[in-house]
Amino acid sequence: MLLTTVFAALVASVAAKDSRTFAVLHHYGKGPLTTCRADPVISPGVPSAHLHTVMGASNFGLNATGESLRQSRCTTAKPKADLSAYWFPTLFFKDPKDGHFEQVKLFYMNVYYFFEATNDKIQAFPLGLQMVSGNAQLRTAPQTTGDQNLDPSKGPVQPAQITCPRSNFNPPSWPAGSDGSMAGIGDPNNKGSGIGFPFQDCDGFASPMRADLHFPSCYNPAAGLTNFKTNMAWPTDAGNGKHDCPKGWIHTPHIFYEVYWDTHALLPRFQDLIGKESPFVFANGDVTGFSNHGDFIAGWDETALQQIIDNCDAGDAGMDKCPGLIGGLNDDSTSCNIECPVVETTSGNLSKLPGNNPLAGWKYGAGSTTPKPVDVPAVQVPAAAPASATSSSSSSTKAATTSKTAPSSSTLIPVVKVASSSSASPVTVKPTTSAAAQAPGPKPPVAKSSSKTTTVVNTVTLWKTTTVYGSGPTATAPTAAPSATGAVAGFKYAGCFKDDQARVLDGEIRPNLGKISNTACVTYCSSKGFSIAGTEYGGQCYCGSKLKSSEKLAESACNMTCEGAAGEKCGGGWALSVYAKDTTALKKRHVHNHLDHHRRGPSVRRR
Ligand SMILES: *[C@@H]1O[C@H](CO)[C@@H](O)[C@H](O)[C@H]1NC(C)=O
Ligand SMILES: *[C@@H]1O[C@H](CO)[C@@H](O)[C@H](O)[C@H]1NC(C)=O
Ligand SMILES: *[C@@H]1O[C@H](CO)[C@@H](O)[C@H](O)[C@H]1NC(C)=O
Repeated sequence: MLLTTVFAALVASVAAKDSRTFAVLHHYGKGPLTTCRADPVISPGVPSAHLHTVMGASNFGLNATGESLRQSRCTTAKPKADLSAYWFPTLFFKDPKDGHFEQVKLFYMNVYYFFEATNDKIQAFPLGLQMVSGNAQLRTAPQTTGDQNLDPSKGPVQPAQITCPRSNFNPPSWPAGSDGSMAGIGDPNNKGSGIGFPFQDCDGFASPMRADLHFPSCYNPAAGLTNFKTNMAWPTDAGNGKHDCPKGWIHTPHIFYEVYWDTHALLPRFQDLIGKESPFVFANGDVTGFSNHGDFIAGWDETALQQIIDNCDAGDAGMDKCPGLIGGLNDDSTSCNIECPVVETTSGNLSKLPGNNPLAGWKYGAGSTTPKPVDVPAVQVPAAAPASATSSSSSSTKAATTSKTAPSSSTLIPVVKVASSSSASPVTVKPTTSAAAQAPGPKPPVAKSSSKTTTVVNTVTLWKTTTVYGSGPTATAPTAAPSATGAVAGFKYAGCFKDDQARVLDGEIRPNLGKISNTACVTYCSSKGFSIAGTEYGGQCYCGSKLKSSEKLAESACNMTCEGAAGEKCGGGWALSVYAKDTTALKKRHVHNHLDHHRRGPSVRRR
């Protein structure tokens, strides 16, 4: 330990930096990695209280860690060596006409990696470092000025701002003289920025509204990688234009999120609000924008990041231009997207925010920091998010619910219902092991609170009916799907089935067939000797010789158009369009499953 410290001190004296260098991390591909009610830092293992837009590595999920992120098959980051995860609250538009909510499209996200002037040696983020910045609970102004402050010796740190580039700053974006109680506050030093959502349209050249967020850059190894509440601090002024970390701490890069939301595209729909109020709301129900916050888990190849820190000052040109970049760059023509492990509707026109977060701030009042328990749509949580190698849809948010199933005969499947609640003694009802095994769901989530969110996630297990294919006396082999033909390349359409993280068809997973159609998938699986083929998520193919689970979904759950066949459906989110050589064999097998369900049903129902 002593030796390490002495060594660090020696290195530090050599590595001092006189001026800032930096390089922007760019992302590539179609949309964010996912949009998902998951937050492996604040709510590991359970759905998070609000929806996040996530960038970064494909192993992001409820339980993501540095180690698991390093195993990712892809990332939205340009440098291949960066398998970190970056996430922030999704921005919604509240339609002034009827009050419904719609996601605002993410325009893009930049992550600035600043290597500041310091007497310390700046070191790569250690694998698995978790950081949170900003305060998700804020619904009132954190200060009476609109500027930021990153230096604790100059007053309370204020790391978050909203930036609103405009072609003309008259009238100002934040009402002059605002004290924050009914509007945001402009930055006295920068007309383009302030705290809280602006009341004007951000129409700057190619630059809509932006959420800005700085992260602290001093890591305390004694606190530990996952102790996000106390493990980071802001460097302080060392008196010579440099900023240093406390002794024994690690000075990491200073990262800064710039999240651009495509707000200007919505202008025709909020024209009437200009100068009066903002139509935007963060996914946590905050209408003020004061709660701008974000999370990070480091998944960098540390050697590669250190090489960037030590050699790159590419600035806005980006890490793409760093000399000698280790690991190279991802191909812009590809995309890295995953399905969200929490299956619920988050896109389209919503009457409530996902997680049912109440609106708060300004005219809605400061709100309670402990939202009332309220009912939300059923949520299913498979063990982990699946990879979507070839997803082509513009949004990675895929909704699928199975609640509309009209069973001919049914069995009981537990569904985890998640509600935000302030209850100190959450009601957590455990499904029995066997029931849990039938429904690919989570272990019963454990109520959790933290300094960042006082929302406690409660779970109750409800029962819903789900058809089991071929299970009842009246069950017959299904015929054609509404949009699929009854037979494809000699295989018959068997229906829309639920998939899960373990993959119900696992003979061959997502062979690379280019643009997927049912014909392409069936032809391929058949040529490999498999008797069942399934397409999913519009662009994935799975082969197998048996379906490992038999849960049938409503046809409407298989509603994604095939990438390679415009008139056909290729499954949906966690939903497989299944074709089989012999649907009778499929039917027989599932009768057995049905009996199993029946045996379990009554006992698990009583609990
Ligand atoms: C959502 O609402 C807007 C405005 O009312 C409407 O134009 C649009 O068609 C709706 N979208 C869907 C998917 O219903
Ligand atoms: C997350 O991790 C916890 C603890 O290891 C585990 O009990 C749970 O099943 C995991 N959940 C998922 C969805 O993988
Ligand atoms: C597809 O199905 C899901 C689940 O049934 C539903 O939420 C979604 O709105 C559907 N999408 C379309 C485009 O019909």
